[in-house]
Amino acid sequence: MNQSRIGLAHLPTPLEPAERLSAAWGGPTIWVKRDDLTGFGLSGNKVRKLEFHLAAALDAGADTVITCGAVQSNHCRATALAATRVGLHTILCLRSSDGKPPEAPTGNHFLQRLAGAECRFITPEKYDDRERIMTQAAAAHGNAWVIPEGASDALGALGFVAAMHEIAPQLEDRSIVRPVIWHAASSAGTTTGMIRGAGELGLDVDIIGSSVGDPADDVEHHVRTLLSESTARFGGSPSDVSWRITDEYVGRGYGISTPEEFAVQTEATRLTGMIFDPAYTGKAIYGLKREIEQGRLTPDEHVVFWHTGGGFAVFAYPELVESSE
Ligand SMILES: Cc1ncc(COP(=O)(O)O)c(C=O)c1O
Repeated sequence: MNQSRIGLAHLPTPLEPAERLSAAWGGPTIWVKRDDLTGFGLSGNKVRKLEFHLAAALDAGADTVITCGAVQSNHCRATALAATRVGLHTILCLRSSDGKPPEAPTGNHFLQRLAGAECRFITPEKYDDRERIMTQAAAAHGNAWVIPEGASDALGALGFVAAMHEIAPQLEDRSIVRPVIWHAASSAGTTTGMIRGAGELGLDVDIIGSSVGDPADDVEHHVRTLLSESTARFGGSPSDVSWRITDEYVGRGYGISTPEEFAVQTEATRLTGMIFDPAYTGKAIYGLKREIEQGRLTPDEHVVFWHTGGGFAVFAYPELVESSE
């Protein structure tokens, strides 16, 4: 694969044992792939995808990138910071409940603005039409590169193909055999890249994406579509990779947590020293605990919890500490 890529993330991210978490939850040996450490402002999974998208934007001679997401989008925050690092302007189409800016910028949105991104707010109804809105904005601008939601297309997924090449020797060094790779799944690019990467390497892993909002069928459909796009564009076709999406831990929906979820997220922080945001990694870690409680993951197994970042969003959820005090 000779796709252009720029170095933005601090790689390889560590693969660490979460000893106290494994002991407290009494199930499999839990490891954490620390993509929360891909950078400070650039932390999380999105920067892996942006290494390919921003390289393509620069190759195309663009001076601006346009992308979209929720107001608290990690992807939009990472895009704004990464783009400014390489001298590109950012336009963000941000979904807010009333199509207006939030009263006070917090969490990721604070950082989007700090990075100088031009923020345009749209209602959830208009957001359904995001691709057209971004294409029109690009046409009006004249020299912009459009990055789809979550940077989840065949190009962005290459970031997680590369990530599987990164984790393969780490698994081998630690004698981790047939791990379950448990991660938060949303726009499907992360899962798609993992599957493609595992297929390329013939890695014996079981990839499970825990949906953070959408029905499992929808996310699985999205993964299959991206896998086909990826095959059409870059060749190869992963086979024999064990993967699935579960929506058992979506709870009340995207970005909404129950008191029970907040309690598990806080517990996980207090057992690891790591930050789990309620929208993504918090939902995924909650799901992992429930899987263990139901005996679906047993003490003889190894689980790699792929920590996909999202830490800044905790500042938008005061309930995380309030509910535990
Ligand atoms: C912190 C975090 N984890 C996981 C995901 C899900 O990744 P993907 O959209 O590639 O499925 C996202 C996406 O926004 C995210 O911000």
